[in-house]
Amino acid sequence: MRRPIIAGNWKMNMTASEAAAFLEQLKPLVKDANCDVAVCVPAIDIPACAEVLKESNIGLGAQNVHFAEKGAFTGEISVGMLKEFGVKYVIIGHSERRQYFGETDESVNKRLHAALNGGLIPIVCVGESLEERETGKTEEVLFRQLKEGLKGVEDVTKLIIAYEPIWAIGTGKTATAEQANETIGFIRKSLGELFCPHCAQEVRIQYGGSMNAGNCKELLSQPEIDGGLIGGASLKTPDFATIVNS
Ligand code: PGA
Repeated sequence: MRRPIIAGNWKMNMTASEAAAFLEQLKPLVKDANCDVAVCVPAIDIPACAEVLKESNIGLGAQNVHFAEKGAFTGEISVGMLKEFGVKYVIIGHSERRQYFGETDESVNKRLHAALNGGLIPIVCVGESLEERETGKTEEVLFRQLKEGLKGVEDVTKLIIAYEPIWAIGTGKTATAEQANETIGFIRKSLGELFCPHCAQEVRIQYGGSMNAGNCKELLSQPEIDGGLIGGASLKTPDFATIVNS
């Protein structure tokens, strides 16, 4: 059985003090969750969040990590820096990083290997644009992202995939539950071809893109969907708690 994981992706929101206050409120609301819970916070919030989340069931996550151990990479953060604060998860290859910060399948692959080697659990994001969906390229794009992004991975069960159709992120347009389930089924089939069918059955694949307190139940009840990567709705404690507890 795959254990679902609900992860918040705060993006560039909340100062450290706001983050700490938010998590103090969130902790009791999700303490009895039947799934894994995580918040992926801005890097500078990590020390404050780590303090608040000590001995809680909420795992701490980052939104990016560099592939080198250290060196001349201005503005970047290493696996070791994250680990020192007990960070457990890291989002890799979010479409906003691909779109605005030049992230490619190749750089995703390098960051992914660094995260896995350092013992972080990567949440690798894949997803097609509206144009790609409308021109029938969804499967081709996803297969390429998986093939190139996950190249050389020895144990694919150690990572989490987030399927996030770009047209559904922050737009209020969610993929229908059937669409999301079907596409995630395709991702699982592809992982079976690229790695092994048995391992593919063990990989947790989340849906992300305008998931909220109102639509989460339907999405999360789909057999292929193993949780969610939540942006906007993860910034409101009651909404995020509703998704976690649904
Ligand atoms: P959204 O973002 O829930 O605000 O659409 C999801 C994401 O980008 O991870």
